[in-house]
Amino acid sequence: MKLWGGRFTKPTNELVDEYTASITFDKKLARYDIQGSLAHVNMLAKCNIISQEDAQQIADGLLKVQNQIDHDESLLTVENEDIHMNIERLLIEEVGPVGGKLHTGRSRNDQIALDMRLYAREAILDITNLLLEVQKALHKQAKQNMDTVLPGYTHLQRAQPILFAHHLLAYVSMFQRDLERLMDSFKRVNKSPLGAGALAGTTFPINREFVAEQLQFDGICENSLDAVSDRDFVLELLSNASVIVMHLSRLSEELVLWSSAEFSFVELDDAFSTGSSMMPQKKNPDVAELVRGKTGRVFGNLMGLLTTLKGLPLAYNKDMQEDKEGMFDTVDTIKGALALFAPMIETMVVKKENMYQAVRKDFSNATDLADYLVGKKLAFREAHSVVGQIVLYCIEQNKYLLDLTLKEFHKFSELVEEDIFEKLAPEAVVNARNVQGGPARNRVQEQYDQSKTLFEESEAWIQIHADKIKGQW
Ligand code: ARG
Repeated sequence: MKLWGGRFTKPTNELVDEYTASITFDKKLARYDIQGSLAHVNMLAKCNIISQEDAQQIADGLLKVQNQIDHDESLLTVENEDIHMNIERLLIEEVGPVGGKLHTGRSRNDQIALDMRLYAREAILDITNLLLEVQKALHKQAKQNMDTVLPGYTHLQRAQPILFAHHLLAYVSMFQRDLERLMDSFKRVNKSPLGAGALAGTTFPINREFVAEQLQFDGICENSLDAVSDRDFVLELLSNASVIVMHLSRLSEELVLWSSAEFSFVELDDAFSTGSSMMPQKKNPDVAELVRGKTGRVFGNLMGLLTTLKGLPLAYNKDMQEDKEGMFDTVDTIKGALALFAPMIETMVVKKENMYQAVRKDFSNATDLADYLVGKKLAFREAHSVVGQIVLYCIEQNKYLLDLTLKEFHKFSELVEEDIFEKLAPEAVVNARNVQGGPARNRVQEQYDQSKTLFEESEAWIQIHADKIKGQW
């Protein structure tokens, strides 16, 4: 008989069992469920709702059940629908009828909300940690490329020269925002819903704060209806993950472009590339492509849950069981991608000479020539037009600005002098843009140094929170 079978006169249709069961995926929550039950049963004893002895038997039994599940997942059955009832059933088999006291003052509704929060907060910590590793890998590459000049692009057209370190540090900034969003979301996840019951609490004199403290929550969900029907913390996680994977996808796109023969700016390490089954010469950036491709499922999981929740009346509805697979999938997808990205970035070979040649064979110093003329008191609009004509001349002559002689410059403007050649050199062009956050070597160094402080802050945050929540398990 079902744990809830008392008021039923017929067994459930088998198809219904299969259709409504969540055990095939919520088994992933087993250890959180047991963690929550241990805290709950402790509280029941402390509040004299059940005896100390009963509580002890139940707690011992729960640990045994954990062990059984760890060794044999087939103990979990569709018949018992979900992870909560499967564990309760195994507990009763293990310790006898006393196991039936565990669920006093609790519902599966507050129980699942709790499990989801315990899972989500660990996921946040794991992802934060992995993000930091990616930042550090980018930072390391930046250090090795403080003097590597390459074209900066707009519209994927060569625009103005920059340092490769500057480009890499842009991603450090992007991932920093991702980290901060995750850290901020932690405080909304880290609240205990337990004690909300099915929706309206319980008649037993429970102590919600005590449960929350044992599980290292920062507090309790204030409203019992909200406690069981809120999945905003899952949405936040899925949305934060979506921005992260979008960032990873942009970087992936660059890696795919850069490693093409047409760009040939980087070479990914063999360990992070794959071959073709037919074309022996091929070395493909599959990891980057796949991360770019996986944005689809991560965005999809967010849209899926938003849609699921959209029309739901308060409080719990079975629809909410759909919150799990998308969350697990997103967390696994993001963790997998981040874990690969750190070493892939760290081991990639930067073809500095090719980057430099791309700047040399390019008009990305044209703005600098115009600025030079402005320095000689020509109005910018006029300077822009003069340089336009010079560029046109160069294209016809198959030359670049630095290939021109002073005499050729003078055909367009007498203002140009000998010093133009050093002014238009790629390094000079980069260093002339000495604004805060800009490409000049010393400005890039500034961002590089500041990043170190940010990493230390993130590390400290992770340490504090990891000690707190991992310590209990
Ligand atoms: N398996 C359910 C879920 O994942 C647990 C809560 C079910 N509650 C209920 N009253 N049916 O959402």
